Amino acid sequence: MSIQTEYKTIGYYSEAATTIQKCFRGHLARKGYLSTPSYSAYSKQVQKAASPETDMERAQGGKTRVYLPIDMPEVVLKKSGRAHAITRFHQMQDVRSTLSAQNSSHLTIPKAVLCGDFLVEARLPINIDRFHNMGIYIAEPHLFDEAVREMTRLFSKVYLSDLLSYQNHPINNIVGDTVRYDNLPLYIEEQDGKRVGKIGLIDLEHMQNSPRLDGYRDGFSTLARIFPYHAELIQEEALKLQMPVSKGLIENKAYEGKKYLQEGYICHRDWLLKKGITSKNATEIFELNSDRRTSIKNAIKNQLMKINEGNQRILDPSNRNLPTDFLKEPALNAEELAAGISLELLGNIEASISPNNLKGHALSESEIVALRAPIFFRREICKKAAQILKKYPNYNELTRYKAIWSDYDTFREDRVYEIADHLLYFVLEELVKGGELFSFDHGFNTDGHQFGWLRY
Ligand SMILES: Nc1ncnc2c1ncn2[C@@H]1O[C@H](COP(=O)(O)OP(=O)(O)O)[C@@H](O)[C@H]1O
Ligand SMILES: [Mg+2]
Repeated sequence: MSIQTEYKTIGYYSEAATTIQKCFRGHLARKGYLSTPSYSAYSKQVQKAASPETDMERAQGGKTRVYLPIDMPEVVLKKSGRAHAITRFHQMQDVRSTLSAQNSSHLTIPKAVLCGDFLVEARLPINIDRFHNMGIYIAEPHLFDEAVREMTRLFSKVYLSDLLSYQNHPINNIVGDTVRYDNLPLYIEEQDGKRVGKIGLIDLEHMQNSPRLDGYRDGFSTLARIFPYHAELIQEEALKLQMPVSKGLIENKAYEGKKYLQEGYICHRDWLLKKGITSKNATEIFELNSDRRTSIKNAIKNQLMKINEGNQRILDPSNRNLPTDFLKEPALNAEELAAGISLELLGNIEASISPNNLKGHALSESEIVALRAPIFFRREICKKAAQILKKYPNYNELTRYKAIWSDYDTFREDRVYEIADHLLYFVLEELVKGGELFSFDHGFNTDGHQFGWLRY
């Protein structure tokens, strides 16, 4: 039965759920219902969160507004709307009973209670930052053996479809999708003096009530993509359950998963280690010395002259020609332009990668990786450089179009931006060659969003 039909009579269930909660609080607490301190205490927090003037802090990740009441650090308040809150609540109960039937104890579904339009849930000690999650998995994968085994058992019954997806982050370009740690955060808990790896199942909204077993991406290969160091364990566990297993698919997805961790985290971490970047110096301002500035200015000058001569194409997949013949006296003009443009581009690169959220505490490895892997907006970085180019009077090639282009100004703006963007690419490439940057992704694949990724 689908979730939709199962919970069609929302009104009925809504009342029923509230009544059940009221009557059987003590008993239900053991079954996953939040019951302390009290319903009215939650209700008070929910009213605060629901107020239009609320300034309550919100969690990151996801579309739902998830509030973090300061007076009740043990819960989160999810503003799902009554109908969704009820559906989610029942899904949590369903999966909880599946987990208990499977003797699973390393997958955590937070205790919850319905409260008007809100779902009040126990707050888990999680951090949804992707580098944080990659870091804890990479550092000690064996801590998650049991949790992954339990995920495999769970995936013999259900499928969660939003654990992998396209996300507007250049990390998506590594293998074409992103692990949704915002729905499946990993954390480590102390139990009887032992560290135990757990997984928070905080978002069951996109759950199918049957395993996914198709040949493209089945549930087990999805798990192998997320937990690639556990590919064999996943196969073994699935076979124990006598589930059909596609060995090839699992191996392919584990290969992608390893590549994702390697290129998204490990390479960068190793580069930082080699460079001697630690918690002490990770937040130092990124600044180039004057020799480097001069050599980059010269590289820009040469590039400008090459562009001017022709045969330089836009580097994105459109592969169009860049404007040509815009320098009347190439060497002289390029020199002048390069001085202004290098100042602007380097200034903006430095500004966008110098950490501005200096933290008071010692940084962990994954915090250093995250801090030194900022996203940059190409339009923003190139804006001033494009303005300098636009002011430059001699654009023969562009002027030719004036008569045929109705929106000539926009056209011209786009063309000078293309030159500036091209120059930015070369500056970044230069910084990688010089060892100042580990790598960059210019963001050609992030559709219209035009943001790239710097790692330094
Ligand atoms: N029980 C919880 N404990 C701690 N943080 C939570 C919890 N539930 C949700 N969050 C935070 O709120 C975000 C969004 O919640 P989620 O249930 O995934 O909403 P959505 O369905 O909109 O994706 C999560 O990514 C996480 O940061
Ligand atoms: Mg979510």
